[in-house]
Amino acid sequence: MEPEQEYDQRVNEKVHYLNFNKKNKKESDNSLVDFSKDSYTDILSEVFKLKPSLPVYFVRPNSIKKAAQFFLQNFSAPKFATEVLYAVKSNPDVVVLKHLYDSGIRNFDVASIAEINLIHDLFGLNAKMHFMHPVKSREAIFEAYFNYGIRDFALDSADELKKILEVTNNAKDLGLHVRLAIPNSHAAMDLSGKFGILPSESVSLIRKVRAAAKYFGICFHVGSQCMDPIEYRNALLIAKEVLEQAKVKADVIDVGGGFPSSYPGMTPPNLISYFDEIFDTLSQLNLDENCRIWCEPGRALVAEAGSLLVRVEAKKKAMLYLNDGTYGGLFDAGFPGFIYPVKAIRIQGKELLSQKAIPFGFYGPTCDSLDSMKGPFYLPENIAEGDYIEIGQLGAYSRSIRTEFNGFNQNLQIEVSDEPLVSMYNEEIKEIKEAEISAS
Ligand SMILES: Cc1ncc(COP(=O)(O)O)c(C=O)c1O
Repeated sequence: MEPEQEYDQRVNEKVHYLNFNKKNKKESDNSLVDFSKDSYTDILSEVFKLKPSLPVYFVRPNSIKKAAQFFLQNFSAPKFATEVLYAVKSNPDVVVLKHLYDSGIRNFDVASIAEINLIHDLFGLNAKMHFMHPVKSREAIFEAYFNYGIRDFALDSADELKKILEVTNNAKDLGLHVRLAIPNSHAAMDLSGKFGILPSESVSLIRKVRAAAKYFGICFHVGSQCMDPIEYRNALLIAKEVLEQAKVKADVIDVGGGFPSSYPGMTPPNLISYFDEIFDTLSQLNLDENCRIWCEPGRALVAEAGSLLVRVEAKKKAMLYLNDGTYGGLFDAGFPGFIYPVKAIRIQGKELLSQKAIPFGFYGPTCDSLDSMKGPFYLPENIAEGDYIEIGQLGAYSRSIRTEFNGFNQNLQIEVSDEPLVSMYNEEIKEIKEAEISAS
């Protein structure tokens, strides 16, 4: 019997093959996942049972619930009506989306017709979508407005305003949100260059948008993985200034995403301090009492809910060749240089994994030498071919970025009950230990 056939027989309802770009993805995902389950397996037993040759995503429903409820409860202040919009781009997996929805998330920041379609198919009219991409095609605006009933659109230029109004036949029921370009000086991922109108050039656009919109909003993005809450204060003070100059009142202030997760070498302040900074500054903005406050977290809602299990295929000095890489689930470990928490797992041989951890770099499975990740990732010095590595904090910007390059896109996904390797939602955020070792 071929090994592939033998392996297929072990697939049960908790495991499903994912080929993200497959046309029939939605059907196969839905048919293989049992959302009613309330107990899950754990990573170690799955590794022993499956000995997977493919990369495996482990999804932690408990972590999704914890993060969603944390945002829903704490992104609030007595004076303001608030909404938490999940940024679908950070992880559009149906399992993740369903758990977010089950945890109370009803608002979704969508950036494309594919994302809109996905949310609509899953949740229908129970989900409210907001098209917060500042540059959209006419076709996408048309479909969003007429076919999906979306009313909220972000924009950052007079041309985009004109486009939205032309396509919607000058609709009178639009929520239009001007995206300001603001400094991203404390973010690991600077998003300020591509989108947003410079505050110094924004006043006339703000007035035009105010005149055209049923309700008018200001939005911005402080950059992904923002390490200092002060950035939200600075952005809100810029918003205050331009609103005052334009003599316009906002119906919505959207502070965007950017809320951090915890990575080795990047332990951010507690998330509560971000909310305190935001609501404290908002109280200086002289907002009308019915002004709504939105946020659009991606990373902070889902990063720690996902680990990626990879297998070591070869070891050459301080480099480990893995079965996944920057063209797969580890894009941000490549050029952006993210370092993730790692945990080694050995299920073969007699020798235990060494307690001594040393720094390794990774190579992915494709032929491209850009498929390399310098780390350092601290792992047992005797880690070897056939060992597994759980790479944590990969619930965000991993699944959504995978490519099919070189034919390495296949992976598995399993829901588990394990705690994340590191959490923003525990009492105290701990500095990440150098290495965690799990041996048979
Ligand atoms: C418009 C918008 N909102 C929200 C997000 C989510 O950001 P984060 O994952 O940093 O919270 C992004 C990310 O690029 C974005 O472009």
